[in-house]
Amino acid sequence: MTLYRARVLDTPDDPFTGGELRADDDAGLVVRDGQIVARGAYAQVRGDHPEDHVVDLRDGILLPGFVDTHVHFPQVRVIGGLGMPLLRWLDERALPEEARLADPAYARSVAAEFVRGLVEAGTTTALVFGAHFAPAVDEVFAEAARVGLRITSGLVVSDRLLRPSELLTSPDRAYELSCELAGRWHGVGRARYAVTPRFSYSATDDLLDACASVLKDVPGSWFTSHVNENLAEIARVAELFDDAHDYVDTYDRHGLVGRRSVFAHNVHPTDRELSILGAEGATVAHCPSSNASLGSGLFPLRRHLEHGVRVALGSDVGGGTGFSLLKEGLQAYFAQQLMGEEGMPLGPVHLLHLATAAGAAGLGLADQVGDLDVGKQFDAVWVSAAEGSTLDVGLRHARDAENALATVFALGGVADIAAVWIAGEPVHRPRQRTGLRLGA
Ligand code: GUN
Ligand code: ZN
Repeated sequence: MTLYRARVLDTPDDPFTGGELRADDDAGLVVRDGQIVARGAYAQVRGDHPEDHVVDLRDGILLPGFVDTHVHFPQVRVIGGLGMPLLRWLDERALPEEARLADPAYARSVAAEFVRGLVEAGTTTALVFGAHFAPAVDEVFAEAARVGLRITSGLVVSDRLLRPSELLTSPDRAYELSCELAGRWHGVGRARYAVTPRFSYSATDDLLDACASVLKDVPGSWFTSHVNENLAEIARVAELFDDAHDYVDTYDRHGLVGRRSVFAHNVHPTDRELSILGAEGATVAHCPSSNASLGSGLFPLRRHLEHGVRVALGSDVGGGTGFSLLKEGLQAYFAQQLMGEEGMPLGPVHLLHLATAAGAAGLGLADQVGDLDVGKQFDAVWVSAAEGSTLDVGLRHARDAENALATVFALGGVADIAAVWIAGEPVHRPRQRTGLRLGA
C-alpha cells in the first residue's frame, strides 16, 4: 500500500447547490490496488499505517484527475486553426485531416499523440469523439488501454454533406461497424462504447435510426454528438429537418436524448430544448475555448442550470486550443464574466467541480472517479510549480485553499502538471522538476 501525503482539494459536494471546497492541508491518502482505502489528517493516517511507503507531495496541490467530456481524437494535429467559423473550419482544417486517418499507421501515431496529450494535461477520463474509420477507432481504444486512460469512444458516422466523401457511410454500414467495434471494446477494461453521429447536419433520419439501433443493441453504451453550436449550422439543420421542432428534436425523436447522452456546445438553445435535456438527464459538454476560438458564442450556463441540465467541461480539441482543463475552467469563467447579468458568476470551486466531479457524474462514473474520497479510484493530478515561476509565487502567497485554487486556474498550465495517476498507476512522469519525491 502507498500513502500519499499532500494538500488535497476536491469537490465531493456540488458547489452549484451549496457545496463547499473540501480542502485538507496535510492529508494522507492510502491507496491499495488503485483504490483509496483511507483518508484523513496525515499524522492520524500515518499512525494507522506505519508500514506504508510514503510519497511526499507537499510541494504542490493534489486534485482529482480531470474529466474531459468532449475531445476529438483525429484533431490533435490541427489545434490552432484560428480565425474561422465552425463550418469553414471543418471544411478547411478539421475534415481534410480526419480523412488522413483512413490510413491505420497514420491513425496509430495520432492516437499516441492524442493519449499523451490528454494525460500530460492531467486528464484521466475522457469522452472521445472517435474517427470515421473503424481501424482508427481501434487504434485509439488500444492506445488508451495501453496507457490506462479511461475512455468512452466510438465510430463517428455521417451520411451526407461532409467533404471529402471518404468520410461518409451508409446507415447499414454504420450499424454494422459500430456493433463490431462495440463488441471488441465496450466494457473491456476501462473502455466503453459511444454511438457518435457527427451532428444531425451530416446525418439523415435513417442514419440516426441506425444509431438508435446500436444504442439499443449495445447495452450500457453511450451517445454523443454536437448541438446548437453555430448560428449558420443551426439554420441549416432547421432547413434539413423542417418537420423537427428544433435541433435537439432531431435527436430526441429518434430516442437519442437520455441519461447516457452527452451533447457538445449547446451555445444557442431554446427553452424547449433545455427543458428536454434537463428532463431526460442528458449532459451538455461546455467547451469555452472552442466557443471563443470559432466565434460560436457565449454559453448560457445560467439557463442550463435553471433547467436542471447537467453541465461539465470539454476541451473540444482541435476546435478548442489545447487539452488543459485548467484553461477550459478559466475560459468558462471569462465567458460568464463577459455576459453581464446573464452570466453565472463562477469561483474556483465551481471550476474545479466542472473539470472533475461534474464530468464524472455526466459520464455515469461518479461512483469511481471525480473526487478523492475513500472508495474511489486513485485518479489524481499533482500540480507543482517550477521553483520561482509566477505560479510558485502565487501559491506561496495564497491567502487560503480557495485562493490557491484560483491561482492554479489563473496561472497553471500543462507544464505545471507534475504527476498523474490513474487507478494508482503513474501514467505521466514529469520531465525535470525540483521537489518531486516519488518513490523516496
Ligand atoms: N460539429 C461537427 N463536427 C465538429 C467538430 O469537429 N468540432 C466542433 N467544434 N463542432 C463540430
Ligand atoms: Zn466537437
